[in-house]
Amino acid sequence: MLRLVTCATLAFAVAAIAQERGIPLSELKSGIAYAGADVRAMQADDEANPAMLWVQRGEALWREGCAACHGEAPASMRGVAARYPAYDANAQAVVDLDGRIERCRTGNAKAAPFGRESESLLALSAYVSYQSRGLPLQVTIDGPARAAFDRGEAFYRQRHGQMNLACTQCHDRNYGKRLYTETLSQGHPTAFPAYRLEWQGVGSLSRRIRACLFGVRAQMPAPGAPELADVELYLAWRAQGLPLEAPGVRR
Ligand code: HEC
Ligand code: HEC
Repeated sequence: MLRLVTCATLAFAVAAIAQERGIPLSELKSGIAYAGADVRAMQADDEANPAMLWVQRGEALWREGCAACHGEAPASMRGVAARYPAYDANAQAVVDLDGRIERCRTGNAKAAPFGRESESLLALSAYVSYQSRGLPLQVTIDGPARAAFDRGEAFYRQRHGQMNLACTQCHDRNYGKRLYTETLSQGHPTAFPAYRLEWQGVGSLSRRIRACLFGVRAQMPAPGAPELADVELYLAWRAQGLPLEAPGVRR
């Protein structure tokens, strides 16, 4: 009897977690599901995916500046991108993968930072993310990461900008509907860094989020700002279980 009660309680708790995330687990969909046939075809074929050029550049940079300590990336970096953003004890903060690479570069390799959205950082981030392709996102939100997660969720739910819209209004309540020329997706981070046709290049998840904030005429946090790492942690948890597809292709 006691055992039954425990199982029922557990099932309830699991359901509550899926509920709290906004979108039930069975309905989670990558943004690629809402993309046009042209974009889907580009992402499905590495030969056609322009972001693979960044992966190649990233591999060259890896050999120059990272392999001496980390060895072969397919072994040492497998699974790493899938658990970022993550708490970094040295920074005493949650950092995203780009931030982690920058910290490693300045702290361990004693070199100058690449700079957010620089081609070199994007290339390395694409290369490191590529090593986790197909693995489900799996971030840690308890312990020292909890406060950042809570701030990230609040940011996601609060209204922003002159249009007074929250992330949740577009990406939880209206996915699948048209907005101007685009179809709203569930707003998952799985494709980033991604090649966007609009950018004619690869950009980070932060840049994508900044573009959403620009779209609602809100003030944009600076690249690398802690608010962005916080909301990225919330997004990763919300997408938990979806496979990493970086570097993806988007409109
Ligand atoms: C006015 C509606 C709107 C709001 C509000 C909005 N976005 Fe978006 N967002 C879009 C559109 C349009 C796109 C591009 C198409 C798509 O993937 O939904 C997009 C794309 C994204 C993507 C990329 C999804 C993919 O698979 O490529 C992420 C991540 C994202 N938004 C996160 C956010 C976050 C975080 C916020 C709040 C800070 C936010 N968005 C607020 C409209 C919105
Ligand atoms: C001098 C040695 C050294 C060099 C060079 C170096 N790293 Fe690191 N890296 C480390 C060490 C040691 C750690 C783990 C300890 C720490 O810093 O917290 C680490 C951690 C990392 C992590 C986090 C891994 C995880 O499991 O969370 C990433 C990502 C990373 N490095 C990427 C890079 C990249 C990309 C480069 C090249 C630009 C690089 N590192 C160059 C020594 C190095």
